[in-house]
Amino acid sequence: MKLLHIVGARPNFMKAAPVILAAAQSPRLQQVLVHTGQHYDEKMSDIFFRQLGMPQPDVNLGVGSGSHAVQTAEIMTRVEPVLLAHRPDWLVVYGDVNSTVASAIVASKLGIRIAHVEAGLRSYDRTMPEEINRILTDRISDLLLAPSDDGIENLLREGAARGSIHMVGNCMIDTLVRLVPSACRPDAAGLPGRFILVTLHRPSNVDDPVQLAAIVDALNRLGARLPVVFPIHPRTRKRIAEFGLKLDGPPYVHLLEPQGYLEFLWLQKHAALILTDSGGVQEEATYLGVPCLTMRENTERPVTCSLGTNRLVGQDMGRVIAEADAVLGGKARPGKIPPLWDGGAGGRIAALFETMATA
Ligand code: UD1
Ligand code: UDP
Repeated sequence: MKLLHIVGARPNFMKAAPVILAAAQSPRLQQVLVHTGQHYDEKMSDIFFRQLGMPQPDVNLGVGSGSHAVQTAEIMTRVEPVLLAHRPDWLVVYGDVNSTVASAIVASKLGIRIAHVEAGLRSYDRTMPEEINRILTDRISDLLLAPSDDGIENLLREGAARGSIHMVGNCMIDTLVRLVPSACRPDAAGLPGRFILVTLHRPSNVDDPVQLAAIVDALNRLGARLPVVFPIHPRTRKRIAEFGLKLDGPPYVHLLEPQGYLEFLWLQKHAALILTDSGGVQEEATYLGVPCLTMRENTERPVTCSLGTNRLVGQDMGRVIAEADAVLGGKARPGKIPPLWDGGAGGRIAALFETMATA
């Protein structure tokens, strides 16, 4: 049985690696890896193939950046001949990025079955481009691989067939479990011993000049209480420059390049507090038991709040600072690790394909 995996953006790599590595153990499963090129900087892409021990992509579509329409259309146009050439039994797509939905639409019309890893997550906020990508991808997928019970409930509510849904656990956490012993301190001068770790890249936070100015001001204020370490996403770096905003320098705010996975893992493990709008970071903070404040009004990962250490603090900076002060003052909430976030999700997915290959 032939699986063709699609990856494109940073969070795809951590989710795909455990499936690819587990499926490689089965002589019945053949694999092709396609990188769309949605992310292309060394620190947003290549470094993860090395650190996660992934095979190099068989094909790189080289689509690069663009508006949603341009990027989605480019992926569709470039992935179609690849799917026709390889004719896989299954297209395997990950998460909620443009590469996910674009390739799923093409496969669907070619009659190629689709497996969606991280199915069923919903923020119920359609202003988020990822929410559109999640809904559409799930709707046309044949195998819905959910990381948590809320995903299953959402899919059933939307009318997905019970038999197409499988609770497999969290693939991103597989990678964390495997690599947490290899986490390594970033090679950056003057990193503080105790710090707040920040990541931000959601358009709702960084594409609006008023909102981003308020965030920069809040980070400068927080940095005066406890140093802020901020590995900055290229979208955010661009916007800060474009809007003429200024983050304080060390010792208050340590602005870093996007970090490799092992370095970022080290930063998460050692952070007194994580402040983020990332999806994956909410999950990783939950697994690591590190207090996390998510600067969003909603999350498609509610289990990180109901069970884990995550808390939604919205986009009002007065509230963000008050909540950060509370955590730093010792009022962090303890958390638990959600069911099946255990390092075995990739193996469970490979076992499903293996069973189908032998049927
Ligand atoms: C994308 C995903 C988002 C995910 C995020 C992870 C969509 C709709 N968005 O957002 O869900 O959370 O990746 O990081 O798929 N850029 C570079 N170098 C790169 C990649 C991007 O400089 O290697 C810059 C470009 O200016 C680009 C901008 O970042 O225009 C945004 O990139 P894009 O892939 O469109 O969206 P992300 O914000 O990265
Ligand atoms: N990450 C990383 N380096 C960084 C920031 C994040 O390796 O500088 C990892 C993080 O550990 C997680 C993933 O990237 O595994 C999350 O991706 P991102 O926040 O870009 O996307 P999202 O999860 O919001 O879609």
